[in-house]
Amino acid sequence: NWKMGDFCQLEIARIRELVGDRALVLGAVSGGVDSTVGAALMREAIGDRFKAILIDNGCMRLNECEQVKETLGKHLGINLTVVQAGDLFLSRLAGVTDPEKKRKIIGSSFIDLFEQEAIRIEKEAENTPNSGKVEWFLQGTLYPDVIESLSFRGPSATIKTHHNVGGLPERMMNGQGLRLIEPLRLLFKDEVRAIGRQLGIHESLVNRHPFPGPGIAIRILGDVTRERVEIARRADNIFISMIKEAGLYDQISQAFAGLDTNRSVGVFGDQRVWGYIIILRAVQTKDFMSAEVFNFDNAFLAEVSRRICNEVEGVARVVYDLTSKPPGTIELE
Ligand code: XMP
Repeated sequence: NWKMGDFCQLEIARIRELVGDRALVLGAVSGGVDSTVGAALMREAIGDRFKAILIDNGCMRLNECEQVKETLGKHLGINLTVVQAGDLFLSRLAGVTDPEKKRKIIGSSFIDLFEQEAIRIEKEAENTPNSGKVEWFLQGTLYPDVIESLSFRGPSATIKTHHNVGGLPERMMNGQGLRLIEPLRLLFKDEVRAIGRQLGIHESLVNRHPFPGPGIAIRILGDVTRERVEIARRADNIFISMIKEAGLYDQISQAFAGLDTNRSVGVFGDQRVWGYIIILRAVQTKDFMSAEVFNFDNAFLAEVSRRICNEVEGVARVVYDLTSKPPGTIELE
């Protein structure tokens, strides 16, 4: 007879026991429900010795960084540092088209920045009542991630490397003696959501669609530039806002607008234009291992297309992706 209220109390006690009364815990947050619930539990358990880091990789959604600051910093009282690293990520991604390379570059840049932050945080904590070593790293791993990483052993079965599953590189685990703390490792997504509600996390965050760590970078088919991220981000914002206004957001498991770097010819007024193609995707799924395409009204999609073409400069055409998973994956790359 598993009760969520008991879960929070037990997990908070377990975290206190594991971490002890001096160590510091570093945690990556993204604004998604998993990392936010993980961070809220850590904050309950050890207060300011939990240090949340949000790395802005330049590929987040429109206004997302501000929203995370507001929710975690202001509402949940979590000690949050935002690392503005868009330039670093975009310069490392320049000219890279291979999806796995993009993931590796982004994953290893995240790790570089966490290492720097761990050092900075220890220094900053010296001579304060909270002085201590960063000994733990929070990861919002869920039960399905644990299962998937167990069953997806071996290179032939690796479809995509999800950099946020599978832990930290050797040099951080053994070299720096960091250990992983995974408060959500026994939970399914709907259970994480239930706990989020109990912890007072706002409904709009609790119900948010998942967003991949590499962000918009893996929703751009081809190489990533600041201009392309900006276009994809603005198109995505229009699509998602219209989905919300139509009351469809909670019926869809994940939706986004991606960008094809091939360009298409269009006509605006009496001008010929040559612009990018926006790919809209929306799916329904229980477990994200397989997914069905969401059926919109054609009139709704036509209106989304009209608005994106009118409001986002550089777009000449909008298409809707009709591929289920399998064979298509949810993300474009
Ligand atoms: P796919 O594209 O594999 O996506 O069908 C399944 C779910 O996983 C998310 N996804 C990722 N999440 N890093 C992440 O943190 C990644 O590299 C990554 N790739 C896919 C995707 O958004 C979907 O929810």
